[in-house]
Amino acid sequence: MKIVHKISELKDILKDKKALSIGLVPTMGALHQGHGSLIKKSVEDNDFTIVSVFVNPVQFGINEDFDKYPRTLEKDAKLAEELGADIVFAPSVDEMYQDTKELTLVCPPYSAINKLCGKSRPGHFDGVATVVSKLFNISQCTRAYFGQKDAQQLFIIKKMVKDLNLNVEIIPCPIVREKDGLALSSRNSYLGDEARNDALKLSKALNYAKELRKKGVNDKQLLCDSALKILEGTNVDYVEIVNPETFEDWKETDKKALMLIAAKIPPTDTRLIDNMEI
Ligand code: PAJ
Repeated sequence: MKIVHKISELKDILKDKKALSIGLVPTMGALHQGHGSLIKKSVEDNDFTIVSVFVNPVQFGINEDFDKYPRTLEKDAKLAEELGADIVFAPSVDEMYQDTKELTLVCPPYSAINKLCGKSRPGHFDGVATVVSKLFNISQCTRAYFGQKDAQQLFIIKKMVKDLNLNVEIIPCPIVREKDGLALSSRNSYLGDEARNDALKLSKALNYAKELRKKGVNDKQLLCDSALKILEGTNVDYVEIVNPETFEDWKETDKKALMLIAAKIPPTDTRLIDNMEI
């Protein structure tokens, strides 16, 4: 497996791969088995798999964790290689962006970003859509793999591909969790033992709401309030239920319901997200 830092080098390698199917797994590194599941799926589905590792400054707000985001390229490359990836593409910020101030952005519609993470992280999804479009073009991928852990991101990327007629098939992959339910996340490394217990409240709240729905509870307020009760002790950003197909507010007449939670975990201030069909 090769680690490539330059766009021109990657393009050179890809020149004679035009007849092959190429799978792209976009990541910001600090890889864990959640990312691993995407890489495995891509290796199964495609002739050639590229894992990108790039902490994208354009999707971080000024008071967010861009500087302290974990960077573990050597370890990441080892895991990607073990799972059968062909290339780790790890460009520098300068290689990806000559000019972040005068950048042409891909901006998802207001209706997709005025809620959930988009509401509390202004500009975040413009940054995500922009870097993902760049990575699609650079890698010339046939398929790209995204986790359902970032459900709003997945929804926005699928919409971008449809709206812009991009020639990429988006493959959604299920959330990978620890045995106790905590969704794997690169940001879990910020948590100590005590904060980890509080972090578990996200999956507990989702599972509880799912149980209530199974028992026939369909009252949105009641479902959200029950989740909020379990989340006490964390700083909740949102608890919402949407229709997973449209990301509109869930109505009792909708068949499927997706509950999404974002909360900061004290004292670390780590912001975690999780979601579950309930
Ligand atoms: P990152 O947070 O590194 O996640 C990369 C991919 O891994 C995303 O598609 C995410 O949904 C998936 N993922 C993370 N944790 C997962 C888990 N526990 N189970 C399943 N999949 C999981 O998301 C980003 O990076 C960036 O926004 C990116 C798309 C790379 C653009 O910069």
